[in-house]
Amino acid sequence: MQATLIPPGPEVGFDLGGSDESLARMREYGAKYGDIYRVFAPARGVYNIVINHPDDVRRVLLSNHRNYTKGEGMDRVKILLGNGIMTSEGDFWRRQRRMMQPSFHRRIIDRFATLIGTVNDKFSERWADKARRGEPVNITDDTSELTLEIVLQSIFGTDLARLEKQLGENPFEVVAKEPNRDLKFAFRFRSLTRLVADLIARRRAEPEEHFDFLAMLMATSDRDTGAPMGDKEMIDEVLTLIVAGHETTASSLTWTWYLLSRHPEVAATLQNAVDQTPPGNATSLDAALAAGFAHQVLQESLRLYPPGWLFTRRTLEADELGGFPIAPRTDVFICPYLLHRHRGFWDDPEAFRPQRFESVDVEERHRFAYIPFSVGPRHCIGENIAMFEMLVHLTTMSRRFELARSDDAPLEMEAQINLRLRSNLMMMVKTR
Ligand code: HEM
Repeated sequence: MQATLIPPGPEVGFDLGGSDESLARMREYGAKYGDIYRVFAPARGVYNIVINHPDDVRRVLLSNHRNYTKGEGMDRVKILLGNGIMTSEGDFWRRQRRMMQPSFHRRIIDRFATLIGTVNDKFSERWADKARRGEPVNITDDTSELTLEIVLQSIFGTDLARLEKQLGENPFEVVAKEPNRDLKFAFRFRSLTRLVADLIARRRAEPEEHFDFLAMLMATSDRDTGAPMGDKEMIDEVLTLIVAGHETTASSLTWTWYLLSRHPEVAATLQNAVDQTPPGNATSLDAALAAGFAHQVLQESLRLYPPGWLFTRRTLEADELGGFPIAPRTDVFICPYLLHRHRGFWDDPEAFRPQRFESVDVEERHRFAYIPFSVGPRHCIGENIAMFEMLVHLTTMSRRFELARSDDAPLEMEAQINLRLRSNLMMMVKTR
């Protein structure tokens, strides 16, 4: 009878969460038990459910999303991000998201083209200098610095340079310099609250024309009540955008260079494609997307190494997934890393083959087998700006340089909050 059905699963318990061991376990259990299984979580004394079928993913993230909140692990993220849109729930989340959504529209994102181009040009000069000296580029550090600079300038605009001058350093640098995401980091990061509050106060006291996310947050209002966003809410959203917008984009770029280093034939195709595009930086996301193969390379990189490799959701009421009844308050885990390598939905899934993102192939694929930016109402709000900056980076650098690693041994992966390389990616650059 339906009600007594229980998904299969291992006898021994294991607390699934953000660690390398979790990924290894999920891979093992998936091979053994299939697209839905349960694992006892000793820490909470409950069973967790893991799903890996696109139909169930669609149900949790889209068609029945109202029955789910975010799940296991969110308490830790809240310490860092407060009640920003990454962690908030219900009507509060809906209201905040509605107020922020227009700022991420493609038309608005296009206005960041000069910023994105200028920051990439600066790093291109830095790499040219390394090429002249015959020194390797630390890709991990540089993509981290580059994406942090773009996200900070897109939020604070000209105030960032003013702050740096006034304080003698960039106060937000800790985000790129400190790789650990522990309580110590959370404490240091939250202490930036004061600085953001001062900035808001200063802008109010000395009104000037600004074009940046902070200005947009300060100008937005609730469409039902007409009330502006409160200062506390605004600060949490700013801190959320910094963290969410920086690490994911940086690790995605690092993975892309890593994959290209291991597949020189793809790197050569990319260079050919880039050489066919007009010189200079793209002035819009559409123009950047016109370098079609660069987009496919990034999509394929996000398939193999999605920085957000594990999502959790928690049922409010009972649900049914994969034919099994799921109790209220059950944590459901979705692992894009494994979903993106599902043999039932991907041909030769372990291979790096950007061409699989040619439009004909995409149309034939299950839409919910590929979710690097998630799907449904809580999908990534920053997808457009992330794609824009990654495309500009990849085309700017491929046009000017050839990159190679000194040896092509595989590097180890680290699956913590984000999916990253465990060690720094060092590459030699040669001007073309
Ligand atoms: C390659 C880069 C990026 C990837 C792979 C990525 C991925 C994701 C994913 C998977 C989620 C959903 C997480 C979940 O549901 O548990 C998400 C949410 C979010 N992302 Fe991104 N992201 C990227 C870049 C950015 C950027 C550049 C920004 C902002 C400037 C951003 C801001 C956010 C925010 C605010 C949310 C929470 C949305 C909500 O819950 O309403 N992300 N992202």
